[in-house]
Amino acid sequence: MAHPKITVVGAGNVGASCALWAAARDLGDVVLVDVVDGLAAGKALDLQQAGPIVGFAHKITGSTDYAATEGSDLAIVTAGLARKPGMSRDDLLAKNAEIVSGVVKALVTRSPNVILILVSNPVDAMTGLAHKISGLPTSRVVGMAGVLDSARMRTFIAAEAGASPKDVQAYVLGGHGDTMVPLVRYSSVGGVPLTKILSKEKLDKIVNRTRNGGAEIVALLKTGSAFYAPAAAAVEMAQAILRDERRVLPSAAYCDKEYGVGGYFVGVPARLGSGGVLDVLEFDLTAEERAAFDKSVDGVKGLVEQLKKMGY
Ligand code: 2OP
Repeated sequence: MAHPKITVVGAGNVGASCALWAAARDLGDVVLVDVVDGLAAGKALDLQQAGPIVGFAHKITGSTDYAATEGSDLAIVTAGLARKPGMSRDDLLAKNAEIVSGVVKALVTRSPNVILILVSNPVDAMTGLAHKISGLPTSRVVGMAGVLDSARMRTFIAAEAGASPKDVQAYVLGGHGDTMVPLVRYSSVGGVPLTKILSKEKLDKIVNRTRNGGAEIVALLKTGSAFYAPAAAAVEMAQAILRDERRVLPSAAYCDKEYGVGGYFVGVPARLGSGGVLDVLEFDLTAEERAAFDKSVDGVKGLVEQLKKMGY
């Protein structure tokens, strides 16, 4: 794909930051869409004018009209409400379901071969909803959570271990919520297992801070939630797909037999490349990790049940 067309829905903090990261990586032409008149067009024009300085050449445009998204190869959906202090991601369910279903319909009618990356929360449930509404194959619908949660964990590990974040590997699986599962056993610094480097006390601290990573930022910002890292994570996934990098990135991917999930989108290590999710990698889990993963997946199933009761 010489000039992939990337739509970003929502020109708020997350959406605009997605456009920024995508432009900086010269990933493709970016179309920013937002319901607020002038917001997407204004931010897109501003960003386009950074091209001569930063050195990107792709077109960045913005609109309120989905006609501009026609023929998109990939769309990142960030539309919806963000958390305020004291709210959980699950509190956003009803409102964001309404917004996401409208967005997905508008996208898919104009881009029947699009690949969707969902960012709106609660993301695992929103990814399942987007799949249902879109009628796309499961491989073309994926949610962003694990790359972000793992990046937070990597940041905290690097700080504690005095290591470069680049050398830190970490995986966070399960749903993107309070019960997410940071997998300490599969985390390492330069290939050395984390359990050999940091004390149990420090590891517990890192796990807790990772689980609360989003809430920590919400409490600081007071008016919304994180956006730079969530957007960088979504663009990392978009790049893996558009450039067929076949990278293993923890993502909200469809699992049926995988991990015994039984037909839901949850956070698992997925290989992303041309066409979307190529496959899901199954880690061996200890009984304790398994129980934590199942508990987290049960949370996602509960949200999907609630959506069904709302008529989705
Ligand atoms: C976060 O964890 C927004 O859910 C996102 O910050």
